[in-house]
This record gives sequence, C-alpha cells and structure tokens, in this order.
Amino acid sequence: MMDEMLRIYPSVGDLQDACAEQVAQALKPTTESQTMTIALSGGSTPRHMHELLAQRPHVDWSRVHVFWGDERTVPPDHEESNFRMAKESLLDRASIPEDQIHRMAGEKDPVVAAEEYEKKIQAVFNVRPPEMPRFDVVILGMGADGHTASLFPDTKALLELKRYAVANHVPQQNTVRLTLTFPVLNAAQLVIFMVAGADKAGAVERCLQGTEDVPPAGQVQPTDGQRRWLLDAEAAARLISDD
Ligand code: 6PG
Repeated sequence: MMDEMLRIYPSVGDLQDACAEQVAQALKPTTESQTMTIALSGGSTPRHMHELLAQRPHVDWSRVHVFWGDERTVPPDHEESNFRMAKESLLDRASIPEDQIHRMAGEKDPVVAAEEYEKKIQAVFNVRPPEMPRFDVVILGMGADGHTASLFPDTKALLELKRYAVANHVPQQNTVRLTLTFPVLNAAQLVIFMVAGADKAGAVERCLQGTEDVPPAGQVQPTDGQRRWLLDAEAAARLISDD
C-alpha cells in the first residue's frame, strides 16, 4: 500500500532545507544493529541539500550505506559525474566509511558496470533476484520531460521488471546511462522526490494529476512504502488544489 505526501515550499532553498531534515530523520536507525541504506539522486538540485544534510548533527553515518539511483557514463572525477557532485557536497563532509560508499562505475563498459552494481546490491542487502532490495530512502529528482534517475520516456529500461540496475540507451541525450530500475525504486521504504523550477511544473502536473501518459517519475509508486513529493512553488504552479 503506497502512502503519499505532498509538501510545497516557497523557494528552492526552503525545499532543500526541508529535504535535508527529512532525509536525516529517515536515516535514524530503528534498532541498535540496523544499518541504513540510501540511494542518492544526480542532477543539480541535490547539491545544496547534500551540503545541508552533511551538517545535520544526528545522522550516524557510520551505519549508512550510500548508493546512487543513476550515473552518467563518465569517470568519477568528470564534471557531469553524479558521484563527483555527491563527493564534493556530501561524502567529503560527512564521515561515511569508504566501504559503505557504493559508486556506479561510470568509467566502465555500462553493461559490465550495471552487472557489477547489481552484485554490490546483492551483497549489501543480502538478496538475490527475484527478491528486491528495500532501500530505506531513495532520493529522486525529475526532469522537465518527467524522467527520474535515468528512466527517460520511451527508453528500454522502463520495461525492465527483473534486474536491479541496467545500462539504458537514452537517444534524447545521445548517451548511455546507468540506472536503478522501477522494481527497485518501488520496493523502497521511502521515496522522496525533490523537484524545483518552473520548467518542471508540467511534468509534476502529469505525475500527480494526470490520468494517462504518466511520465516515468509518476510511475515510481512504492508498493509498500511512502512517496513524498517535495516541491518548490514554481514546480507546483500547475497543481490544482482540492479545496
Ligand atoms: C541525473 C539525475 C536526473 C535528475 C533530473 C533533475 O543524473 O541527471 O539523476 O534524474 O534528477 O534530471 O535534475 P536537476 O536537479 O538538475 O533539475
């Protein structure tokens, strides 16, 4: 059963601050022994949220395993690397044990990198297909076209229902991306969409109020978890309020 929450913030700064606090709360272990798992989003919006998250005092990073929802097929020090963005804004600021940082190898052959990532997930979560890993927190962004992670409209990865991670050819970006798949995203305990900007308003409306042609972001619906939409006012501009 999916639980849904929608919050709209006046500015992107307020959105990033609220998201950082909610992620920090969600990373609090519920039992002494529990380790926590998070999948980070790429793009630009998470950068400042990461910086704020790194400052939150009550996150025990020694118990957190960090993954990514997607990665570009570039080396980890490339300016477009999602890992590099996270390293600069979070990993270098929070004391996360090296062996708990699970990077997608964007520098490798994408098919090999996706297979290696699946093995990493299997090892950390101690799962084997068809069982799905259950992330404690998945942070996702959304593009103006409604893509999320690297699940772009009309791409093959949208049809993947068994594998955890795949290499996805994205013709509209003339590239191949690495991405987690819908089954993994929909197995999560908590999915947080953090979306800002007027250019996203149309896709937000289609995700939340659309009845057909729902874009990939709208198809992320945790089977037994919560989906939170954290939006700034610009991204929420086309939502019709019920009252
Ligand atoms: C990526 C992301 C992607 C991103 C959206 C929004 O690798 O680019 O994972 O899904 O979240 O494109 O990006 P912005 O935050 O830059 O708008």
